[in-house]
Formats: sequence, structure tokens, C-alpha cells
Amino acid sequence: MVVDVNKFINSMQLEKNHKQYFNISENLANVLANLVKLKKPLRVLEIGTSNGYSGLHILKELPAGAVFMTIEVDSNKAELAKENFKSCGFEFAEVVNSNVFDFLSDYECEEGFDFVFLDAAQKDYRKIVGVLREKRMLNSGSMIVCDNVLSHFKYDYMKDFVEFMREEEEFETQVLELDSGFLISCVR
Ligand SMILES: C[S@@+](CC[C@H](N)C(=O)[O-])C[C@H]1O[C@@H](n2cnc3c(N)ncnc32)[C@H](O)[C@@H]1O
Repeated sequence: MVVDVNKFINSMQLEKNHKQYFNISENLANVLANLVKLKKPLRVLEIGTSNGYSGLHILKELPAGAVFMTIEVDSNKAELAKENFKSCGFEFAEVVNSNVFDFLSDYECEEGFDFVFLDAAQKDYRKIVGVLREKRMLNSGSMIVCDNVLSHFKYDYMKDFVEFMREEEEFETQVLELDSGFLISCVR
């Protein structure tokens, strides 16, 4: 039986799984859902699935026919996310149980992604964006959203990443100073 996605999300919140699964905050999950609702992306890539909490916020706003791929290194979490997506009727969601760098190096890109959500391997965000560009996995108009830019701003790697995204001509970048902090960037 397929359950109501908003009720399912509420039950995930009530179970207080946030800490165990390192889910994004409820505020940022709602921002993420609204960005997807406005942008209507047809090809979405998420890096860092966990139990599928942020993925469900993306999936519930996707237009019909959209592709959603999400990458998770931990096999138990990947399985749990698959079950959670299935419970909500999102069988088309593709959960890839892999390290992000193995996934990126194996991925044969025929079409880029028009929405990318980064929520894993924070110290490697810059490297990940570099590979996405090199492999032409981003298009003009693609949106990149990254979590933890405020919570991790004390680290040089995050300062460097935010500075890079702000200064690079190809990107139009803002930081949303809410909870752990979202970087929201559009490819020109
Ligand atoms: C912050 S949690 C993701 C939370 C999720 N986006 C949400 O809000 O529901 C980060 C996840 O990324 C996974 N992860 C960490 N390093 C990774 C890597 N190199 N490749 C793929 N997944 C990774 C972790 O196992 C963890 O489940």
C-alpha cells in the first residue's frame, strides 16, 4: 500500500531519526522542496541519501517523468531509503549504493543533471563540483544546492569552497543563513 508522503515525512520527524541519520533540518527540507517545486527539474542527482528524508522532499515535488538518482555509501541506509521511497510510491527513484567518487568515475553521462543536491563528503564538495563540470554533468541553468556550508564554515575546505563558488564566473551563488546553511548556486 502506498502511503501519503507528507504523513510519512511527519512520522520520520516524530521518530526523531534526524540525529541518527544526519538528516537536513526541517526548515531546510522545506526550502529544498520549494526550490524543486519552483525549478521543476527533470534530472536530479542527490549525493548523500541516508534514510531518504531529503530525497522524499525532492521526490514529492518532482514533475512527472523526472529522473531521480541518489548516492549512498552505506548499504543499510541505501536499502532503508529504497524501502521508504517505495512506501511512498516512488519506485522510479534510483538509489545507488556507492562511494560518490566511484559513482562519478563510472558514470557515463549522456545528459547532465538540472538539479544537484550535495549532502555528503563536505570536505570534497569542491572536488565533486570539479568532476561534475569535467564530465559535463551540469548544464546551463542547472541548480546546485549544498548543505552544511555554515555548520562547516570553521573549516578551511568549506571557506575555500564557498569562495570558489562565489568567485567562479560560471556560477551565480548565494548562501542561505538558516540552520546548517545552504549554498544555492545556478550555472550560468
Ligand atoms: C548528512 S547525511 C545525508 C542526509 C540526507 N541528505 C537527508 O537529509 O536525509 C550524509 C550521508 O552521506 C553518506 N556518505 C558519506 N560519505 C559518502 C561518500 N563518499 N559517498 C556516498 N555517500 C556518502 C553517509 O553515509 C550519510 O548517510
